[in-house]
Amino acid sequence: MTIIKNISQLVTHSTDNLNPQPTIYNNLSLQIHEGKILKLSPNSKLGRYKKEKIIDVKGKAVIPGLIECHTHAIFGGNRIDDFEKRSNGISYLEILKAGGGINYTVKCTRSTKESELLKTGLKRVKKFISNGITTLEIKSGYGLSFEDELKLLRIINTIKKKSDIEIIPTFLGAHTFPEEYRNEKGKYIDIIIKKMLPVIKRRKLSQFCDVFTEKGAFNLNQTKQIFNAAKRLGFKLKIHADQLTNSGAALLAAKYKCISAEHLEKSDEKSILALKKAGVTAVLLPYATIFTGHNEFAKARMMIDNGLRVAISTDFNPGSSYTFNLLFCAMLGITQMRMTINEALMAITINAAYALGLQERKGTIEVGKDADLLVLNTNDYREIFYNPDPSLIKLVISKGKIIFENS
Ligand code: NIG
Ligand code: FE
Repeated sequence: MTIIKNISQLVTHSTDNLNPQPTIYNNLSLQIHEGKILKLSPNSKLGRYKKEKIIDVKGKAVIPGLIECHTHAIFGGNRIDDFEKRSNGISYLEILKAGGGINYTVKCTRSTKESELLKTGLKRVKKFISNGITTLEIKSGYGLSFEDELKLLRIINTIKKKSDIEIIPTFLGAHTFPEEYRNEKGKYIDIIIKKMLPVIKRRKLSQFCDVFTEKGAFNLNQTKQIFNAAKRLGFKLKIHADQLTNSGAALLAAKYKCISAEHLEKSDEKSILALKKAGVTAVLLPYATIFTGHNEFAKARMMIDNGLRVAISTDFNPGSSYTFNLLFCAMLGITQMRMTINEALMAITINAAYALGLQERKGTIEVGKDADLLVLNTNDYREIFYNPDPSLIKLVISKGKIIFENS
């Protein structure tokens, strides 16, 4: 058993409650057994323990470990050239349509050795951990051929085995059309449907199938074909929807009851209401909005006011969002999308758990759940949103074990 004592402030939402007001306990101790939360008790009621491992946090605040539910963390090369092009006024969409962007990273990724991709992948996971992440989703999507997509999913699954935190692999073979199928799009869709999806299912490499539905990537009809096949095989569906244009992708997400619809910068009220009705979790990526030079954020206020579950994520990737700092993204949620501090906390903990189907095990500090926790370098949890500096994270605890300590 491990005991965490002298917590000045323990802040947690609860699994089934959409109320953004968290429970705040003061002067609390936590008992952890076999990686799970066993008991919460007042410091004053804590008995005498001798053999147990005691972590005395000396009056600091504790919150749930952060959940990063949307990243593209396995890729070769970088996109500094695109970044500079945008600074010269060429847009993300123009670069994508001209065959640059994602396809440039595909070239770099294909020519990078598997061992090298694994090594940088593991380094990036470490960076996420130092940013307070205890659950991390990673998408494929820079392979775009049968062999290369499988290679990426293999790497992500190796990272899953080697990591101290929970890693969730997502298949994103439908990220864009690869160069060689530019003029034969149907053929590439056939490869996804007939080759990739069945093998990924059989080898249990991912339980999620994601599609980038956008001009220059997959249109609504193409998305439907992939969703139909993925659904038949038992995949849970995710979608990059309405990022650059309002294409009806969020409405499609509602129709297919996707577990999550992500981006949604351009989604209108009708789409938002449809997502709510279908029980889809919205994943908002405000750093991608600013990194690509846009200033129209997703309508988080309208979503929350209409009862939609809203998560926030970094979208870490080389082209549209180069950051590991989920707290900074939450701060953008507060300052740019009119979310409250408590809604932002919820967005990077329990709501992000919902986006991955992990809400029964992750995202809150409740008895029976995994002991994934952050001990902060402050006694006021609001400070990490006010000053989203990872150095305010003192300890990262995953399944009851300290996996990172800030010196
Ligand atoms: O979520 N929108 C599509 N995919 C990524 C960007 C990938 C890239 O530019 O390499 C995103 O923003
Ligand atoms: Fe993305």
